[in-house]
Amino acid sequence: MDRSAVIARLRELPPGKRVITALDVPTAEKALDLATALGPGGHFVKVGLELFSSGGPEVVERLRSMDRRIFLDLKYHDIPNTVASAARVAATLGADLCTIHACSGRAALTAAAEAMAGVDGPRPALLAVTVLTSLDEEQLQETGPSADGVQERVERLASLAWDCGCDGLVCSAADLPRLRGVIGPEPLVVTPGIRPAGADVQDQKRVATPRAALESGADFLVVGRPITRAENPATALAGIAAELEQTS
Ligand code: C5P
Repeated sequence: MDRSAVIARLRELPPGKRVITALDVPTAEKALDLATALGPGGHFVKVGLELFSSGGPEVVERLRSMDRRIFLDLKYHDIPNTVASAARVAATLGADLCTIHACSGRAALTAAAEAMAGVDGPRPALLAVTVLTSLDEEQLQETGPSADGVQERVERLASLAWDCGCDGLVCSAADLPRLRGVIGPEPLVVTPGIRPAGADVQDQKRVATPRAALESGADFLVVGRPITRAENPATALAGIAAELEQTS
């Protein structure tokens, strides 16, 4: 399936269905309970490092059997052969989205994108993580001093990933308005670091409200704690979805 078909298929979902709930819980049982509690609003869920480390492919399969779409967010960062092989496995799990770190470099990004392009039939969109939303300028300089600021780094990594054949990006909504000007409308963009107005920011640094993220050009929003730690997760999710519906 070529890149434009993969992107178009995901963009068929209406704005109110563009929330991906991050099932950041330690066990498969807790994840399945949470998915059940979210009801039909939780039709798109994220399986990240914590849950995949404990639940493995089986939890993905069980969530799929509950009719959930899967964002398999394992953020590959390795040599080309390893990331390409991992991408092929993600495709066999029936995920809709999966991730690779853009700073894995041109060869690894290209190898993973080519592995995806070689999949027969439906496949996940391969998204490149630009700069984590939990990183600010100070932390970035600590890990790799550069004359570039966060925004320039996001733009450079996003352009590289798109050039290598990735289907889209993960970045902060705060980076998006300028970034869309650089990469254009085509790449699929998923934004974490979403906080409804007045919500606790926790460890995130570059945050945006659901409405601001969509208006900035995001296709999908990843929301974890504002939903999963709410007294009533289904109500919290419904509130965010309603805000997005009004944005359209
Ligand atoms: O709880 P919170 O809404 O902050 O969760 C955000 C989710 O998005 C987490 O699952 C985290 O792994 C993910 N994520 C992120 N920053 C990125 C990519 C993914 O916060 N750049």
